[in-house]
Amino acid sequence: MKAAVYTEYGSPEVLKVKTVEKPAPKQNEILVRIKATAVNSGDWRLRKADPFAVRFIFGFRKPKINILGSVFSGEVESVGEGVKDFKVGDHVFGHTDMSFGAYAEYLSIPESGSIALKPANISHTEAAAIPFGSVTALHFIKKAMIKPGQKVLVVGASGAVGSAAVQLAKSLGAEVTGVCSTANIALVKSLGADKVLDYTKEDFTKNGETYDVIFDAVNTISVSRSIKSLSHNGTMILSAAGMPEMIQGLWISRTSPKKVMTGVISHAKADIVFMKELIEASKYKPVLDRTYSLEQIAEAHAYAEKGHKKGNVAINI
Ligand SMILES: NC(=O)c1ccc[n+]([C@@H]2O[C@H](COP(=O)([O-])OP(=O)(O)OC[C@H]3O[C@@H](n4cnc5c(N)ncnc54)[C@H](OP(=O)(O)O)[C@@H]3O)[C@@H](O)[C@H]2O)c1
Repeated sequence: MKAAVYTEYGSPEVLKVKTVEKPAPKQNEILVRIKATAVNSGDWRLRKADPFAVRFIFGFRKPKINILGSVFSGEVESVGEGVKDFKVGDHVFGHTDMSFGAYAEYLSIPESGSIALKPANISHTEAAAIPFGSVTALHFIKKAMIKPGQKVLVVGASGAVGSAAVQLAKSLGAEVTGVCSTANIALVKSLGADKVLDYTKEDFTKNGETYDVIFDAVNTISVSRSIKSLSHNGTMILSAAGMPEMIQGLWISRTSPKKVMTGVISHAKADIVFMKELIEASKYKPVLDRTYSLEQIAEAHAYAEKGHKKGNVAINI
């Protein structure tokens, strides 16, 4: 089968499309013929080992996993012994969590993983734009227990995680303000944001407003500044936090009534099933920026890595 393989950390050009062995489904696994995947921040961070600490988990000198890609949408081609929930011909989408391997024509994955039947009302390309951002946002939004009428600010509202956070907070009845650049105002409004702040013209930390929940999806503003815009016992979600923000968040949570949430999420089946149902109820829509072919994977990585994409970048296979 064809796959985008990398054997060393580095620039997008380390990704090479090669012929590799097609996997076979083991016991309780399904073999998915992948129709679309996506380039997410997790992929380019692993490709270039950024942050450096990536090397302690994924291989110090060279990557231990040679095929990136954590999201997929496709058709079940065969099933291993004992598979109960899926059958040949099912259209499925999901996330591989930390095992990757979706930049390929086929993926073998345990049926107990983060997989669900693809929503009938979206294409495979659109489905590939769902699992990464939406499940990350859902994880934190569930923990924050957002209630109808609460004021929620989403910083980075045009990215994969931020565009999902806007839609999910809105679906829970929150009053949502999105922070984005001028070019993305129309997009963020179309996702349901009640208000949009253009960060190139306005600094939300200086407008006197406070919010019950601040969801910072991009980590472009210091916690010491943004925390001032959080209500007395509000919740700050720092989904893109590095180690310094994690430590600062822990300190704030321990020493004040404000709560700060950070951490790396893991992908559970219940969350992708929840997203399938939300999409089929027309309460959530995929946000797709550009679509590339597998042969253009290096180009797609170079674009995603710039940090300006609108939602998601898909790869059709
Ligand atoms: N905790 C976890 O488990 C977890 C899971 C997934 C992702 N992450 C992390 O979350 C981060 C974001 O991921 P992503 O995939 O959503 O990124 P992304 O899709 O690349 O999004 C970046 C978006 O942010 C906007 N942006 C840039 N600067 C901004 C600013 N100063 N204020 C507001 N918006 C700004 C960009 O548009 P403009 O440049 O046009 O403004 C772009 O639309 C990554 O660092 C990733 O590693 C963490």
